[in-house]
Amino acid sequence: MSDTTNYERLLKKYGSPLYIYKEDVLNKCCQQILDFKNNLEKSLNIQVNMHYSTKANSNPAILKIVKEYGLCVDCMSPLELVIDQKCGFTKNQILYVCNNIDEEEMKIVYNTGVLICLDSISQIETWGRLFPGTNIMARINPGIEGVGHSEDVITSGKETKFGITEANFGTMFDTINKYNLNLIGIHQHLGSCFLNDKIDDYINGVEHGLNLITQYSQFDNIQILDLGGGFGVSYQGEEKLDFEILEQRLSKVLKRFIQTHIALSELKFEPGRYIPCESGILVGKVTATKNENNIFWIGTDIGMNQLVRPSMYDSYHKIEILNNSKQEVVANICGNICEGGDILGKNRKVKLPLVGDIILVYNAGAYGYSMASNYTGRLRPAEVMISNNQEKLIRKREKIEDLVKNIIW
Ligand code: LLP
Repeated sequence: MSDTTNYERLLKKYGSPLYIYKEDVLNKCCQQILDFKNNLEKSLNIQVNMHYSTKANSNPAILKIVKEYGLCVDCMSPLELVIDQKCGFTKNQILYVCNNIDEEEMKIVYNTGVLICLDSISQIETWGRLFPGTNIMARINPGIEGVGHSEDVITSGKETKFGITEANFGTMFDTINKYNLNLIGIHQHLGSCFLNDKIDDYINGVEHGLNLITQYSQFDNIQILDLGGGFGVSYQGEEKLDFEILEQRLSKVLKRFIQTHIALSELKFEPGRYIPCESGILVGKVTATKNENNIFWIGTDIGMNQLVRPSMYDSYHKIEILNNSKQEVVANICGNICEGGDILGKNRKVKLPLVGDIILVYNAGAYGYSMASNYTGRLRPAEVMISNNQEKLIRKREKIEDLVKNIIW
């Protein structure tokens, strides 16, 4: 069966658009992360745990594969926490990395026994008042500009909402002491999606954080150092992230830190995107075409509610139209939402489409479904996993009945 027929069959069965994940690709990415962990453990002689960031894609079918590889998870909401637990992750395998949460949410986390990472003095104050004498991690902002594919995903530096900067360390230590909290770990996350060309910036950010931590004796006894996520995916055919180089560069900067911080027993990382991104394709249909003011427009059923990254961050996703046409067009490809910004890709060279053709959007496995919404009353699509050429429905397409049930008429 050709790819086109297969996609047509799947769309007919599960509705269009449809998120499809390929298990072999997911396995490959999990294995790379596992190899990275094992190699770093060997070269640094310390335990390394990789906490997959649930927010990248929280489908249980994906989380269960992550678990099979012995990876851990991080989560940032009660629902993600429940999903992680239901997928079999134990409390020690889950880390709650949050910001600006209320007392109710803190109580939920406390009751599960999962370790929490708090990202402001105000949050430490609230936690300490509720649960004095407990273990916490704190998220610092190393002050140096982070790395990321868009300003919106840079999470360190002068203009980010995240973390505690050096200027406030004194007050942080006072708050920790006031409630007799035990600061067992430090966290920093520089940003999201760095590739080989930004490894220097990433390492520089790590070094900066380590130097900062080293200057304060109050951090001398930390047991956990969490360096966050950010491992990039090559959306536009850029050179792929070389984990061997990353591992060597990290080992070099971490060696001395580990020697001087004798209580340190664990390194953590939080890769999100890297694990499911390449495995996912968003498949939809061409629903209209037009030529206006010398711009060729391709209308599709993939609106910004199904994949918001291009409209939100101007992100690039490779797009392909499946047909036998020999003719190509340069087109703006857009969705079915009533917003001018509902664009999937601008000035893309694709095959001249006909209404009804299949359209594929690549690298949609991370921050695709997890950021999908019901904006303008659109239903979120189904998700399907392909393993050994067999498909399995892993989330049903929403129905209007699902969405009207909470409306009070
Ligand atoms: N840890 C923390 C504390 C984070 O804030 C994030 C991502 C991660 C780990 C995972 O980062 P990753 O390895 O996936 O880069 N929606 C955006 C990405 C936002 C990421 C936010 N935080 C996108 O679609 O590109």
